[in-house]
Amino acid sequence: MCNWEQAWLAYELIENQKDKKYFESVYTQQNGVLVESALREIKTAAEKLFSITVRRGENREEAGLILELNPALNLGKEGYQITEEEDRIYIRAAKENGLLYGTFRLLLMVSSGKEITGISIREIPSNPVRMLNQWDNIDGSIERGYAGRSFFYENGKVCVTERIRDYARLLCSVGINGVSINNVNVRNGAEWLISERHYKELEQISHIFAQYGISMYLCIDFAAPMTLGGLSCADPLKEEVKDWWEKKCGEIFGRLPNMGGFLVKADSEGRPGPFAYGRNHADGANMLARAVKPYGGTIIWRCFVYNCQQDWRDRRTDRACAGYDNFMPLDGKFDDNVILQIKNGPIDFQVREPVHPLFGGLQHTNQMLEVQIAQEYTGQQIDVCYLVPMWKEVLDFSTGCGKPEDTVADIISGRTFGQQRCGMAAVANTGRDANWTGHDLAGANLYGFGRLAFDPRLSAEEIASEWISLQISRDSDVNRSISDILLRSREVYEKYTAPLGIGFMVNPAHHYGPNPEGYEYSKWGTYHRADHLAVGVDRSAGGTGYSEQYFEKNAALFREKGTCPENLLLFFHRVPYTYRLHSGKTLIQHIYDSHFEGHEQVLQMQKDWELLEGRIPQHIFLRVKERFTRQAENSREWCDVINSFFYRKSMIPDEQGREIF
Ligand code: GCU
Repeated sequence: MCNWEQAWLAYELIENQKDKKYFESVYTQQNGVLVESALREIKTAAEKLFSITVRRGENREEAGLILELNPALNLGKEGYQITEEEDRIYIRAAKENGLLYGTFRLLLMVSSGKEITGISIREIPSNPVRMLNQWDNIDGSIERGYAGRSFFYENGKVCVTERIRDYARLLCSVGINGVSINNVNVRNGAEWLISERHYKELEQISHIFAQYGISMYLCIDFAAPMTLGGLSCADPLKEEVKDWWEKKCGEIFGRLPNMGGFLVKADSEGRPGPFAYGRNHADGANMLARAVKPYGGTIIWRCFVYNCQQDWRDRRTDRACAGYDNFMPLDGKFDDNVILQIKNGPIDFQVREPVHPLFGGLQHTNQMLEVQIAQEYTGQQIDVCYLVPMWKEVLDFSTGCGKPEDTVADIISGRTFGQQRCGMAAVANTGRDANWTGHDLAGANLYGFGRLAFDPRLSAEEIASEWISLQISRDSDVNRSISDILLRSREVYEKYTAPLGIGFMVNPAHHYGPNPEGYEYSKWGTYHRADHLAVGVDRSAGGTGYSEQYFEKNAALFREKGTCPENLLLFFHRVPYTYRLHSGKTLIQHIYDSHFEGHEQVLQMQKDWELLEGRIPQHIFLRVKERFTRQAENSREWCDVINSFFYRKSMIPDEQGREIF
């Protein structure tokens, strides 16, 4: 018995057994590792869904399901086609990867209760790279982990467990093809992952991933030539440093044949990088890119670079500007096997931020979007917050970069500027908890990220509904009730936390719960500058100039209070409390109303959840019920603290006379 659940691969017995006929016998001429995984999955699923043991048929005539390679189909490496022809289902692909993805799709369709009779679908992933970033530390803790400890490490050792196989199955089933398995902050011994100490276990893990078409990536310490190699510097332009990395990469890629490459956080929040030697990010990234090139490796270089030692008195420096300021001048200077990984917004995964201006800005550089499934600032998997709608807003954002296909989804897929190495990455929300994600409903975010990275056209509603039928219940009323909770959840979270894009009113360090001045007089560059008259930072042309980093189409909207999307008003502007919003309400009244409403809506979601008792598995019901109790407390705390803060600053009473402290 394992002590973890199967999430959306539970394959609960299905009442209507009409699809059983397809699964009694499966035929394929292929026998590579990926097809073997597909066959194993079909066997597992058919046993659970239909209580049958699948036969691998000797000839195609007797099979109900046929897996076939057909390179002529123009499906790329990972695309697939599923059709029903004469009472048989065919999964066709150009490569085994496509067959495996097609298999999972078919099984998940059956398991979610979708109709497969007469099926005819063709899917090619939009994004070449679809990746998860584990922020797991080698001591077994997880940075921003809210679902228990790591299942990759314990006490400085790499663990190889069956759970990693189930994790790989889950990821592959939604189309993930890369995982970086250690925290971007490489420290406390994790520097040594790229050494003899850990190769044996890492090799085993990489083999497991390889069976599911997932490349393994490692985060490295830019100063490794010093920490590991004993050199006196890590200057990327010094021959001895280049030699050290070349040798090291020969060793790593020799020992770990399924390596995709490295993910690097350099010159960011105290991590070492090329700046120490007067070099720039391109010098640093390209040096590594050349070392991994002989092995087909990729360097993913993060753009989360800003001054984290800011003096709060300094009003000219604006953290929001930093990513663009650092990387725009380097556009076109990166080697072809470097990808820049850019967070969705310019600050740090807040519940509402504008889209990062580097998207569309960078036109000659491979780029990848980074989002955070781990709910660091969005409720820490205690509060429910379905993030797919937020990611869709980002993907659908039209950058105005002058190309016909100019959305973020277009850019990161390579459609806009013809790039091949690009895509989407996300900070994972998984850990050792039985349900993988702490809050059961946070499973929708993990599932949704994979689905969306594969096909950004899917709607948030479709994804929610699929996930609910796979992981919680196939009942359509239950599906509607839970979908309803998920789809409201982000807006509700936003309402009771930080208003109108202001962000960062959280408790310092752990980032849960309200603390409106927690970061106000600190070095992190996240200020709201509220006083008795107004709140917000002027980031328009006359202010810090951040709005001018966008193409004119968006800059024109953002730079004026009147045209700025209201949900970002306080991100871009300093606004008096008496300013009237489009609704006719004053800013201060909007803040009060939104916080009271947000808290009330949590209580409503909690009630809606209570109605599900007896209609869904009891253990899920109880776990989520417990989370709602905590969310209700948290939302009350946010509501009262934020409202009291603004009342005490402005001394303007609530028009409705509700209790503010
Ligand atoms: C945030 C987060 C850190 C993390 C960093 C990053 O600042 O709080 O824990 O290391 O992002 O993305 O590198």
